[in-house]
Amino acid sequence: MPTTLITGASSGIGLELAKLFAAGGDDVVLVARREDELERLADDLRSQHKIKATVVPVDLSQPGATDDLVNALAERDLVIDHLVNNAGFGALGKFADLSADRQTSMVMVNIVALTRLTRLLLPGMIERGRGGVLNVGSIAAYQAGPNMSVYYATKAYVLSFTEGLREELAGTGVNVSLLAPGPTETGFGDDSGMGKFDFFAAAAMPAAAVAKAGYDGYQNKEDIIIPGWRNRLMVTGVGFLPRFATRKLVGKIQKV
Ligand SMILES: NC(=O)c1ccc[n+]([C@@H]2O[C@H](COP(=O)([O-])OP(=O)(O)OC[C@H]3O[C@@H](n4cnc5c(N)ncnc54)[C@H](OP(=O)(O)O)[C@@H]3O)[C@@H](O)[C@H]2O)c1
Repeated sequence: MPTTLITGASSGIGLELAKLFAAGGDDVVLVARREDELERLADDLRSQHKIKATVVPVDLSQPGATDDLVNALAERDLVIDHLVNNAGFGALGKFADLSADRQTSMVMVNIVALTRLTRLLLPGMIERGRGGVLNVGSIAAYQAGPNMSVYYATKAYVLSFTEGLREELAGTGVNVSLLAPGPTETGFGDDSGMGKFDFFAAAAMPAAAVAKAGYDGYQNKEDIIIPGWRNRLMVTGVGFLPRFATRKLVGKIQKV
């Protein structure tokens, strides 16, 4: 059976994606910092499905974390067929006020770890002529986000990187898709500070529904998967507006 590695599998969208890949018969490798949460999920998945679940606790904000992770996979003779780059976080606040370390860690997790892990695992997929990568971005990618500038910029990177890579891989048998959720009921709202806004809570979709859209879209080899009609409408609308207008609007909506 194929093996799928999911980063950020300890909660939210990543946890729901892990359940779906396991239910589809894949062995799973669960990655995040909270080992207890990962072990609990691994036990559940092993008992519910006839699959192998391996836990590798890693702090992806640390330099060298992805290399350590890939070494841990090699030690266990694990070959990764599908990589789900889901781990990520955001922080609401003005760039100059938010901690430099937190924002640097955000770039490390949302961009550097996603990129390096893809680079380390992709050649094997290309050689085998199958498998793929599902990157979790955000509808935040489609415009600048004042008061959350770094987070929006990291997701713009994920969108652009995924699209570019998809073209490079055409004809190799390896698929690359982007899941771009809008507000979702996970730990993200409280952790980032976005949860305090009424619009966020009102628009938030269940994590299981977002993961299902991502899983189905990835299986169908779709390029960009935006779950929920409201989110699709918003991204379409943003495309018709000049960038100076969308960034001003976002700055007003998420005022700090
Ligand atoms: N929820 C939303 O509204 C929303 C909207 C658009 C996009 N997204 C994106 O969806 C993805 C999943 O987030 P979520 O909404 O499911 O939030 P979540 O419940 O907070 O999950 C985030 C996951 O990322 C992991 N993670 C964070 N920092 C990490 C680190 N340094 N090293 C390893 N793992 C780390 C967390 O695990 P540990 O804490 O155990 O390390 C957790 O499993 C993120 O990329 C996020 O940007 C979320």
